[in-house]
Amino acid sequence: MAAVKIADGIYSVGAVDWNMRDFHGYSTLKGSTYNAFLIVDEKTALIDTVKKGLEDQLLDNISQVVDPKKIDLVISNHTEMDHSGGLPKIMHLIGEDKPLYVSKMGFKNHSMHFTRKWNYQVVENGQELSLGKRSVTFLETRMLHWPDSMFTYLKTDRILFSSDAFGQHYAGPEMFDDQIGNAIMPHAKKYFANILMLYSEKVKKLLESVKEMGLEIEMICPDHGIIWRKNPSAIIEAYALWSSHECRKKAVVAYDTMWHSTQTMAEKIADGLAGEGVEAVPMHLRSFDRSEVMSEVLDAKAVIVGSPTLNNNIFPTVADFLVYMKGLRPKNRIGAAFGSYGWSGESVKHVEQELEAMKFQLPETGLKIQYVPDSAAKKTCVEFGRRIGKAVCEAMNQ
Ligand code: FEO
Repeated sequence: MAAVKIADGIYSVGAVDWNMRDFHGYSTLKGSTYNAFLIVDEKTALIDTVKKGLEDQLLDNISQVVDPKKIDLVISNHTEMDHSGGLPKIMHLIGEDKPLYVSKMGFKNHSMHFTRKWNYQVVENGQELSLGKRSVTFLETRMLHWPDSMFTYLKTDRILFSSDAFGQHYAGPEMFDDQIGNAIMPHAKKYFANILMLYSEKVKKLLESVKEMGLEIEMICPDHGIIWRKNPSAIIEAYALWSSHECRKKAVVAYDTMWHSTQTMAEKIADGLAGEGVEAVPMHLRSFDRSEVMSEVLDAKAVIVGSPTLNNNIFPTVADFLVYMKGLRPKNRIGAAFGSYGWSGESVKHVEQELEAMKFQLPETGLKIQYVPDSAAKKTCVEFGRRIGKAVCEAMNQ
């Protein structure tokens, strides 16, 4: 990707990671980008850098606009290494004494990530910094999604540099929302589900305070994926919806299986759910990555989890999913457990305990079927699905 002018004197100069398929346990089937931005005014500012190893892309892009040595200051909106890993090389090249603007928590985090003591300039929430004709304002956004996270707002151009918020792990030929259209939304949804779902309350508060401040936003430049320039309100509205935990009449049936018996149960339970008008999404946990499942969980009222019993316990992939989902804290959900077993059948009890720990409402006692489901057992599974489907419909109508 070359440097791209996004407004007068403002350029996108980040790097594309076309081949990345796993971002700390999140499947990134379309790679990602590490966006960085250059504001050329009386002073030239670089906002964020890129992952270590991709600095040359960043430097090539900066060089298409200005000599990198002419950068006067760097703003680090977020310390996570996908945006700060390139800092040592960049600071070395542009000058180790150049000011590096960080939030209070950013300073703390930088100090623990880097041994080099740069010329840190710690900024307060709301503090302005003049670049000449323009000035930027720093807005702390703690825990969205790290303690150090902040936004940088360019009032004159009404551009919000939003760090990870409003981002998507997507690398493609498009750079702006008007070039890709709604096809970007599943990527934005997956990003929210896997990175921000647990901070939903903070997202809601942030959106409220942005409204109260009357912040005019014409363009949102996140640190991953496409830039929202045509319709930034589309992603703001989507965040309002996703952070509300509002669900659809939908149930994810997440399961693993050893000899297809738990799979048969999952499919029959899905039939029962569908029979009640509930959209059922069966997801085999070795066919779908945990992050894809969470993307579906984001707007599903029910999560029904199936595990065979292995060594008196939950199947490992199911345990993995439950731990992951627990960390992301979906709220106000209906849950249920099921599974096939041979001689002891503890998995269902363990899954139920995990769902209860997540404060899911369990309208049904978990369903266990020994060995291979026969036609009577299959019917039992369909009925189980139907009863949960009814509970979903009732909950949605309340
Ligand atoms: Fe894209 Fe939290 O780093």
